[in-house]
Amino acid sequence: MYTLVQFRSFAVMNATIAAMNPLLLSRPLLSWCLLAILFTATSGCLSHERDALLAFRAGMNYIPTLRARLSSWGRRAHGDCCSWPGVICHPTTGHVIKLKLRNSSPPPDDPPAAYDYNASPQQVREINSSLLALTELKYLDLSSHDFHGVLFPQFIGSFKELRYLNLSSSYFTGGIPPQIGNLSRLRYLDLQFALDSHVDTLDWLTQFSSLQHLDLSGLDLALTNVASTLSASLKVLRMSECGINSFPISSSLADNFTSLITFDLSGNPSLISVLPEWLWNLSSLAHLDLSYCAFRGGIPDAIGGLSSLTHLDLSFNRELEGSIPGSMAQLRRLEELNLGGNQLTGNFPRWIQQLTSLTTLDLNENLLHGFIPGSLGKFGNLTELDLGGNSFQGALSLVHLDNLTKLELLDLSSNSLNISVHKDWIPPFQLEVAGFGNCDLGPSFPPWLRHQTRINSLDLSGNEIAGVLPDWVWNISQFTIDYLELSDNNIQGKLPNFPEHTNLNMLRLVDNLLEGPLPEKLPVELSTLVLDGNYFSGQLPIWPYVDSVSLSDNKFSGAISSSVCQWTMLSFLDLSSNEFSGEIPHCLGESLYGLEILNLDNNLLSGEIPTTIGFLTSLRILRLSKNGLSGGISSSLQTCSELVLLDLSNNNFSGSIPTWMGETLSSLAFLILGSNHLSGYIPQQLAHSGKLQMLDLSHNNLSGTIPPNIWNFSAMASTSQVRNEELEYLEVELAMKGQMLYYSYISDLIRSIDLSCNNLVGEIPAGVGYLAGLINLNLSMNHLNGSIPQKIGRMESLESLDLSNNELSGNIPETLPSLHFLSHLNLSYNNLSGRIPFLQQLQSLDDPSIYAGNPGLCGPPISKLCSNTKVNQSGEPHETNAHEEGSEWLWIWISIVLGLVMGFWTFCGILFFNKKWRYGYFHMVDSLHDGVLLRLELLLRRD
Ligand SMILES: *[C@@H]1O[C@H](CO)[C@@H](O)[C@H](O)[C@H]1NC(C)=O
Ligand SMILES: *[C@@H]1O[C@H](CO)[C@@H](O)[C@H](O)[C@H]1NC(C)=O
Ligand SMILES: *[C@@H]1O[C@H](CO)[C@@H](O)[C@H](O)[C@H]1NC(C)=O
Ligand SMILES: *[C@@H]1O[C@H](CO)[C@@H](O)[C@H](O)[C@H]1NC(C)=O
Ligand SMILES: *[C@@H]1O[C@H](CO)[C@@H](O)[C@H](O)[C@H]1NC(C)=O
Repeated sequence: MYTLVQFRSFAVMNATIAAMNPLLLSRPLLSWCLLAILFTATSGCLSHERDALLAFRAGMNYIPTLRARLSSWGRRAHGDCCSWPGVICHPTTGHVIKLKLRNSSPPPDDPPAAYDYNASPQQVREINSSLLALTELKYLDLSSHDFHGVLFPQFIGSFKELRYLNLSSSYFTGGIPPQIGNLSRLRYLDLQFALDSHVDTLDWLTQFSSLQHLDLSGLDLALTNVASTLSASLKVLRMSECGINSFPISSSLADNFTSLITFDLSGNPSLISVLPEWLWNLSSLAHLDLSYCAFRGGIPDAIGGLSSLTHLDLSFNRELEGSIPGSMAQLRRLEELNLGGNQLTGNFPRWIQQLTSLTTLDLNENLLHGFIPGSLGKFGNLTELDLGGNSFQGALSLVHLDNLTKLELLDLSSNSLNISVHKDWIPPFQLEVAGFGNCDLGPSFPPWLRHQTRINSLDLSGNEIAGVLPDWVWNISQFTIDYLELSDNNIQGKLPNFPEHTNLNMLRLVDNLLEGPLPEKLPVELSTLVLDGNYFSGQLPIWPYVDSVSLSDNKFSGAISSSVCQWTMLSFLDLSSNEFSGEIPHCLGESLYGLEILNLDNNLLSGEIPTTIGFLTSLRILRLSKNGLSGGISSSLQTCSELVLLDLSNNNFSGSIPTWMGETLSSLAFLILGSNHLSGYIPQQLAHSGKLQMLDLSHNNLSGTIPPNIWNFSAMASTSQVRNEELEYLEVELAMKGQMLYYSYISDLIRSIDLSCNNLVGEIPAGVGYLAGLINLNLSMNHLNGSIPQKIGRMESLESLDLSNNELSGNIPETLPSLHFLSHLNLSYNNLSGRIPFLQQLQSLDDPSIYAGNPGLCGPPISKLCSNTKVNQSGEPHETNAHEEGSEWLWIWISIVLGLVMGFWTFCGILFFNKKWRYGYFHMVDSLHDGVLLRLELLLRRD
């Protein structure tokens, strides 16, 4: 080990000497002699520096990865510290000049999705400043050790000689001390994910006059003014995922950034802007990454001026529109072009054939159309071709494909594109990713895929592939395929018994005609199995390794067998829409500790919720609706403190709503208890649950008043669309099923209260007016009296309001017309009186039935004219139809939520997104990881 390290420091010296005299390189013997002489001439490790290193090590014991990294440093207080791993000394003076202590194994990760930046650590620690004894230190790399709970070291600012500082993925606590600005000689500063809280100021950056490489990615700079702090000497500037909403370079100074080679602003979705003019003056740019921001408008012709560009990524800005400018034909050095996930229009750009160096062409998810020209076949260097999610038509034939020998990714999904080749065609390429979702490749399984032995992701969903799959399909999938998506076909037959070891990680066969029992054994690697919408039946096997299983909408019946309790790795289980009967197995709670999502909706289950459910402390979604479950709401649910969604609707639950619900379930956002036999009061404590955004208690026997502290529902009071972090995490998890990615994106908008069809009495609390984010309020079919609060006019987001079938009296508030989004209103069958206010937004809906059964009301749209005589307030017989429209509306929203969570995604797919987002997501994840690493590597080579 030591000799190896010595050898490395030799190598460094060797390189230095080689730089002085290149001749030496070709004369190894001579160089070795010289090195030997140099080595004996060094003074070795300086003792006070060695002591400093040892003190540093002693103080760092509590960081396991660093302890491991430093464990091979000498034990004794003497010895040559210059030979310790990661310590590099000056060859003649013996001063430590470099500390390379990066944690390279295990490889660094992005922060875990559930990383709680705001959790205050038990004890804030500091790094011992003994390191300051290393006065000649030029290079310090402490990256990828998790220092969460350790203060960002202030003393770092005193390393006067420092040229390179890498603290990436170190997650230090506290702020970045302004002393860091004293490092005036710094050239490389990598602070990517270096802090676990937001950054107040970057003013210290102004002191870095010779900085060349600056990476601030992953720092929370939302509250920081970055512009005017940056040095124009920068060659590399990365500010990915910083939460910024304005440009870090001000337009007036942009012309000074003549050296900028890499500019990365990706992943800043609050950056809403057109592409700024000054960008096109940054003539040295080779890498420009503006993906996953919110740029809108067109791509200007001026982009053709960036003649050094090799990598251009404008993907997933969603609102970039117009055509792809022909001037891009001048970008002759372009190797990677990513324009996916926008609204670009026009034909496949023919001039692209001039960009012969292209290795990646990503146009996916745009509005492009027309035929793919045969010149595509000239891109011999192409490795990734992604045309999915456009309206391209025609067929790709040998002309297009036969020269693409390096192709590894081909995505044609969701176009009207076909592949027209002879059935014996053997492709010249070996694909790794093959995306052919919703193409027209059926009805037989494309035979040429048989020769693709390296595929790891294959999507053939929606191709009308019919019949029993040939055996070779399962054979190719065994060895390389990691992700196999064959949903929405007409595949028949049974699933084979898989061998124990394959590469298969995710298998989706939703909506096919498969039948018979489930395979007894699954490959150990298989983590996600989605078989919704088939005809599977029989017993649930013992699958000990699977992580996520969805068997919704099949033909299973009888009791849920206890073999499920042996699926001990499970985090996601969906058995909804089958005919399972009997009780929920008690052993579920006792063995599936990791369960996060459990859906047993729409079966024939009976009995009570087993108390063992309380052991499922990771549970975030619990859906038991549409069964025959009874008993009280189990108090054991109290321990499921992570619950975000609880749906017990449409059962026979009785008893009262427990008061702990608002208190112990602090993450609860969706509480759906409608259509049961719940009685008693609505507990005030519910309003303590600050995250609740959907409350459905409709169709129960609840009595008493509406809690007056209703305005406390802070998630409903907020109109901002700040993402609920729980839901964001959930979004990531749900991506396992590959179809609910944008759950949080929509669910954020759903803020609803439905208390209809109960026995509630008293007045509508005025505080309801503070719920400015609420979009649906349904209080119909109760016995509410008093007048409609004036403050209701403040509920600026309200889209649907149903107060029908109550005993409300008085005038309709004059403030109602200020509800600009209101599109559904029902006030029928109350005792309201007076003139109906003019509702501009309701003109299209000026339906008199909105006001029916209120004999005291007058004026348009009802025919009764207003007069000054007092109206007769006789009670009208109530009819029951009036409320249905309102709840129907709500059910649309509910089904969006439920649908998104559990897979009624066709609904949402039509409404909002199409299936291809999934692909986009995988791309994003991939390119965020690989892209960043790869590009850094390229850059470092370049530098
Ligand atoms: C740093 O380490 C030295 C040597 O172990 C010790 O004497 C000193 O107290 C430590 N300083 C702090 C601030 O912990
Ligand atoms: C900093 O370290 C990380 C790994 O921990 C590495 O990926 C990155 O390239 C380094 N930054 C610089 C500027 O060398
Ligand atoms: C280092 O920076 C701090 C704060 O910016 C400043 O007060 C101090 O004088 C500087 N120290 C030196 C030695 O330059
Ligand atoms: C930018 O460049 C102009 C002219 O090249 C120069 O006058 C000006 O001082 C520079 N600004 C900064 C902040 O460096
Ligand atoms: C591949 O790219 C190189 C330059 O990177 C270029 O010289 C060569 O012509 C390209 N090959 C094809 C087939 O276009």
